[in-house]
Amino acid sequence: MVLIKKFKGWEIPEREVTPEDLFFNRRRFMKSLIGAGLAATTLPLVGCESKKEENPIAGTVKLDVKTNPNFQEVGRTITDESFASRYNNFYEFGGTKSIWRNAQALPTENWKVEVSGLVKNPKIYDLDDLQKKFPIEERIYRFRCVEAWSMVVPWVGFAMKNLIADVEPTAKAKFVRFTSFYDEKITPGPVGFGDYPWPYHESLRLDEMANDLAFFATGIYGHSLPKQNGAPIRMVIPWKYGFKGAKSIVKIEFLDKQPPTFWNTLVASEYDFEANVNPNKPHPRWSQAEERIVGKGPALAWEKRPTLLYNGYEDYVGKLYV
Ligand code: MTE
Repeated sequence: MVLIKKFKGWEIPEREVTPEDLFFNRRRFMKSLIGAGLAATTLPLVGCESKKEENPIAGTVKLDVKTNPNFQEVGRTITDESFASRYNNFYEFGGTKSIWRNAQALPTENWKVEVSGLVKNPKIYDLDDLQKKFPIEERIYRFRCVEAWSMVVPWVGFAMKNLIADVEPTAKAKFVRFTSFYDEKITPGPVGFGDYPWPYHESLRLDEMANDLAFFATGIYGHSLPKQNGAPIRMVIPWKYGFKGAKSIVKIEFLDKQPPTFWNTLVASEYDFEANVNPNKPHPRWSQAEERIVGKGPALAWEKRPTLLYNGYEDYVGKLYV
């Protein structure tokens, strides 16, 4: 008799989802095969998988925007957009990196973002309000996923602290929860797995949200966000692992207590609330000392670089964690 184990969504067998060298190194330390969804670095040939006539940034609008001089240089080359727009994590549309076609089903017209909770001025913004009200700029940030791959991305958007000033949190507000769009008919999640705690939700401490680096992106590479990158508005928190940056935000709530978060609810031992990039704090199943820079060819061929504490942003955020 052959025993077939049926894996839950976050128990994808690592050999199917992880670069082989990580997988085989990790195996040595593993007593049992319990995989987590966010270990999902497949072995893609990025950029080679789409047919020529398909354009992953079709439908985006060019944005006339200046680069903030404080965030124009990160000592690394900007990732080619063909990678950033085809190699994505957006579990609402599937559990692989190739969800960009599925993500085109996201309905972004008449988008509203509701801000509520412990604030003096609760608001419902539409996207135009946000873009007119807050100065839009470009920032080039390092982007580091917990799966040990990285990119350098030119985001367009506005500092989160501007929104904080507009809604005026009360003295009781200590945490902020961000919730992504969810509609089970449109965002089915990885097919066959029903146990995710949708909608995707993430949270920051209020002082983290108020940090100069914390950013809402409404664009990328000089145009509006493609759906697969989290259109029309997403979080970008460059000193934390990418999973803290919820996409396609519809709700922002100011709270007095730390709320549960998506990946932490699924696998608390693997995805902590803070999730700061840290080369000295290994993921339970792999090292975080190095990262692979997403590029051409199979993941194993990508250039490796040492991981930087707080993703290289210690001067900005070190003081938050003393
Ligand atoms: N937001 C939502 N709503 N759903 C997701 O699955 N994945 C996160 C984050 N935000 C995710 C999300 C993870 S794990 C990463 S690494 C980044 O989005 C990926 O962003 P990108 O596809 O633009 O590179």
